[in-house]
Amino acid sequence: MRIARFLIIVVALGLGGLGGFVAYAWEHAIDPIDPPQRTAFDPALVKHGADLAAVGNCNVCHTAPGGKVFAGGLALPTPFGTIYSTNITPDPETGIGRWSEEAFIRSMREGVDREGNHLYPAFPYDHFTRVTDDDNRALYAYLMTREPVRAETPANELPFPLDQRMVLAGWKLLFFREGAYQPDTAQSQTWNRGAYLAEGLGHCGACHSPRNAFGAVRTDAHYAGGESEGWTAYALNADSPAPIPWDVDSLTQYLHTGWEPRHGVARGPMAPVTQNLGALPETEARAMATYVASVMGEPTPEKKRRADALLAAETTHPPGVQVQSAGSQTAPVLPANAQRGAAIYAVACSSCHDAGRPLPYGGLRLDHSTAMYGPTPANPINVILNGLPAPEGERGPIMPGFAGSLDDGQIVDLLAYLRSTFSDEPPWEDPAPLVARLREAGVEAGVYALDSGSAAPANPSKQETTW
Ligand code: HEC
Ligand code: HEC
Ligand code: HEC
Repeated sequence: MRIARFLIIVVALGLGGLGGFVAYAWEHAIDPIDPPQRTAFDPALVKHGADLAAVGNCNVCHTAPGGKVFAGGLALPTPFGTIYSTNITPDPETGIGRWSEEAFIRSMREGVDREGNHLYPAFPYDHFTRVTDDDNRALYAYLMTREPVRAETPANELPFPLDQRMVLAGWKLLFFREGAYQPDTAQSQTWNRGAYLAEGLGHCGACHSPRNAFGAVRTDAHYAGGESEGWTAYALNADSPAPIPWDVDSLTQYLHTGWEPRHGVARGPMAPVTQNLGALPETEARAMATYVASVMGEPTPEKKRRADALLAAETTHPPGVQVQSAGSQTAPVLPANAQRGAAIYAVACSSCHDAGRPLPYGGLRLDHSTAMYGPTPANPINVILNGLPAPEGERGPIMPGFAGSLDDGQIVDLLAYLRSTFSDEPPWEDPAPLVARLREAGVEAGVYALDSGSAAPANPSKQETTW
């Protein structure tokens, strides 16, 4: 990342030298107000704001582990340093209690705080800028009627000159395109609703699109796959690695309930996304699914053939039998490490993943799992190391973690077996360093909302996120 940092410095200094830059970068302060009374807001507007806040995952980023919802203080690691989310409760001193509606709308639209400081794009305002003024008013009403919490935001840990918020004006000039969502009149209302939510509040591209050296989402690689907190956020465009292609129905169920019979459960940073979406009417998930399915497009005939073959095969492949792209099975020709992995699989994994128990509590047939076909083994490594915790209200984990029983070498062998047996993709590039790094990180594998009827909270603000 040294190069990235160097480039940023050059750009910052270069822009800083331009006449008029300071004038460009300067934003005026908006006068503080006396915190409004809760009763000043229409309850229907507040309820609408709660739904929108769920789409925006505001609770996920603005809640520190063990902290109060929306009180901020969550450390967000970026390649450039650590940025802390702020307190967005209506506390007048440490939160946004003195922010007028105008100041709030400006922060969402332009990424500028009440005092006129530029905000870091770790706050995904590059997406939130698409939100309409009406929806921002509802969000404001919702936030201003939450419990005020006194909580100072820790200072960011960023090197000079990135700690200077003025630099962000240069970043915005290069990468930020401000403006509310413009409907595409050639598309249906449902599609437009989905695009509005996904591109705006849902900020799907913040994780599912790659970023450039300046940390900006690459507009030339929309939904081409990205990274989030040690997890791979798979491509959601024509490059989707899912072996069973997604369609509107499967995407709707996955987004709304956190799992789908042919694709498994949502894990890692995707788990709270689906948990939040589970609190909304299913029509919202369906709208997003309609949009995402159109971005993915129809699967190629080759992908269709592969999926048909996988679905036609009644049981999963007995250990040691490789999958071919046309679905035909051939005699095993496993390299030595994959053979060692096969023995581990037979003992540790097969009893659940080959048992044919229905999801979400049974394990998916792994030849149906995107995790086997993805560009990196990050997600299966996280799942193998840490397992999958019990969904809310359930006692046992749905999958145990193997960090204590498998060493790095055994996991590397297991991965060689999984990849060669359950996918037709070439082997992952030496996964050993990644296994070591992810073991060290011990990332959260959170599973939520496995049953949209009972597990999804009606109001995300009432629920203490552990996140
Ligand atoms: C991906 C993480 C993330 C999500 C999701 C997120 N925020 Fe933030 N937000 C941040 C960070 C980080 C900051 C602080 C940025 C800075 O210090 O420059 C911030 C700052 C803000 C600010 C400015 C507050 C201040 O005191 O300066 C507001 C307002 C805000 N967020 C509202 C929201 C709302 C409303 C939502 C949901 C619609 C939301 N955020 C979702 C990370 C996030
Ligand atoms: C905070 C990062 C983040 C955000 C925001 C996010 N995702 Fe994800 N998403 C992920 C990760 C990580 C995975 C992989 C999860 C796994 O392996 O279970 C994923 C998985 C998925 C999958 C399954 C892909 C497959 O082939 O298995 C779909 C579909 C999806 N996300 C859609 C969306 C949509 C639609 C949105 C916006 C509403 C969204 N995501 C927002 C991180 C994110
Ligand atoms: C006690 C039963 C159990 C055991 C043992 C088990 N799993 Fe799982 N596993 C599950 C369940 C349940 C899920 C969640 C449903 C799903 O998505 O497959 C899961 C999910 C997964 C996933 C994600 C699949 C997807 O894309 O949704 C992978 C990969 C995985 N397990 C690999 C393994 C490996 C490798 C082993 C052996 C080291 C193993 N599991 C052992 C029950 C188990």
